[in-house]
Amino acid sequence: MGVIPAVIHLAKNVYSAAGGLAQRRTNGSSVWGTLLVPFLTLFLSNNPLPNGLPWGTRTDWGTNPFTHYPNTGIIRTYDFTVSRGVIAPDGYDRPVLLVNGAFPGPLIEANWGDKIIVNVHNNITGPEEGTAIHWHGFLQEGTPWEDGAPGISQCPIAPSKTFTYEFIATLYGSSWYHSHYSAQYSGGVVGPMVVHGPTQQKYDIDIGPVMLSDWNHEEYFDIIEKMLAPNGSPRVISENNLINGKMNFDCSTVAPGDKTPCVSNAGISKFKFKAGKTHRLRLINAGADGVQRFSIDGHTLTVIANDFTPIKPYNTSVVTLAVGQRADVLVTANAGNSKSAFWMRSTLTVCTPAKQPYAVAAVYYDEADTDKTPTSTPWDVPDPGTCATDDLSLTEPLYPIELPAPTHTHTMDIELFKNASDVTLWKFGGVSMRANYNEPVLLLANDGNFTYPDVWNVVNFQSNTSIRVVVNNRTPGGHPMHLHGHEVYVVHEGPGAWDGSIVRPENPMRRDVQQVRPGGHVVLQFDANPGVWGFHCHIAWHASGGFFSSFVVQPKEIQKMRIPQSVENTCREWDAYTHRNVVEQIDSGT
Ligand code: C2O
Repeated sequence: MGVIPAVIHLAKNVYSAAGGLAQRRTNGSSVWGTLLVPFLTLFLSNNPLPNGLPWGTRTDWGTNPFTHYPNTGIIRTYDFTVSRGVIAPDGYDRPVLLVNGAFPGPLIEANWGDKIIVNVHNNITGPEEGTAIHWHGFLQEGTPWEDGAPGISQCPIAPSKTFTYEFIATLYGSSWYHSHYSAQYSGGVVGPMVVHGPTQQKYDIDIGPVMLSDWNHEEYFDIIEKMLAPNGSPRVISENNLINGKMNFDCSTVAPGDKTPCVSNAGISKFKFKAGKTHRLRLINAGADGVQRFSIDGHTLTVIANDFTPIKPYNTSVVTLAVGQRADVLVTANAGNSKSAFWMRSTLTVCTPAKQPYAVAAVYYDEADTDKTPTSTPWDVPDPGTCATDDLSLTEPLYPIELPAPTHTHTMDIELFKNASDVTLWKFGGVSMRANYNEPVLLLANDGNFTYPDVWNVVNFQSNTSIRVVVNNRTPGGHPMHLHGHEVYVVHEGPGAWDGSIVRPENPMRRDVQQVRPGGHVVLQFDANPGVWGFHCHIAWHASGGFFSSFVVQPKEIQKMRIPQSVENTCREWDAYTHRNVVEQIDSGT
């Protein structure tokens, strides 16, 4: 197993559970990671239907969520203000971008079929920046302009302006929101989303979101500037790894001369388990780059959902999540007595460029002293080193849907290249993408304009209803491939070229992010949802470096859409702002 024992003695202070910095200093107004976080309820209870459940008689095993989601008529409204701040999630001070002063941002919670409304105020100053928030994994059926991808579905929200997002939670489970403006989310604009829905699987306590994220000490803007400089490296190395926005850092390892305030014992996240009870944890890889391997010492994880797809439960000691992916896991507190404490761990895989890949949090049973440092030992499950995620044969959707015959197949290659200025960029389907913030593809398509500059990397799938995409990875890194607006069928993933075989054609896995391994392939397929949808690598740095494309799906339907005036207004505000100010678009824009 090798790696983990070497780290346990690495730095005692890094593995201490006694936090040295106030929560305000580490995470602003966020309470994530503290014992103050309330458990979640089974559903929000202000709108039960006659039989007691907001979703009526629908079940996770017997209801097709794509065709039979409820419409509760209930609205959940949130107010978000995005602004700058300085915090030290791991004890090392850095400028960040925050949602309502918090990192990670506040929870958005709804029941299946509710409408979610979020007023997003751009209060980013000194310097100003645009912003746009994406609701990861939401289908946005009939509302593609609410998807939050600047240059694709909207113009950025100009500084001091507000945009109101409004969409229905047609799928249920665990997800997250994040800025989709440049790599802004890696600077802190992220938070969890929970949509309560049916589960056949019983549990006692919903612990809520457990966000896993690699962490950099430099601002995202500086990282990208360096990465996209002539002869810059496309490999961005993270400094630390966080669970719910917290981890300790060994300040003796900072570069000589670095005078940034740093406290080695900032404090880790803490969770309470009830002995003998079963807990639901909503794991979210909300990081910029790294693939995470999550485990809890001595405890078996029962995986019940991946992304927005409930699956046939399976047991494992380690769950692997690429950026953007989620896993809902059940954990029974049966590994000790009521005074026991255990390490929760998340480790960036060997394929991830990271200086400190080990994140830990403390899990305390009911009567354990919550200042005590756990002494448990990790599972002996070595990193396979494949840069792939968990095998597709393990995960089978609970509600079966047969893979339809595709009406069209499209092939895209992932490549790295150096441009004429010696800048290393990504090509996806032959193009290194660069968005135009002032000309979102969706609005042009709605106007009947389907001719775009090549650098926008738009693929028009016309009126196809069932689209298969074969992605060949001709690079030495793994990539989490994410399609907006769809829960895609994962037809196949593996090394080398696709041999035409399909994993479980009678019921393939469905999710919104699928990792493709180095030198490998992934074959995805989706049922057309009319709109313009980003299809990209979810590694923030790779998307910035051009690894992004947009799919025009059912253009005739897009032309019929009535896009609210507010979307047009946001473009007018952005146009006005960009006339007065030079926007330094240092990357692809997304
Ligand atoms: Cu999580 Cu393009 O998004």
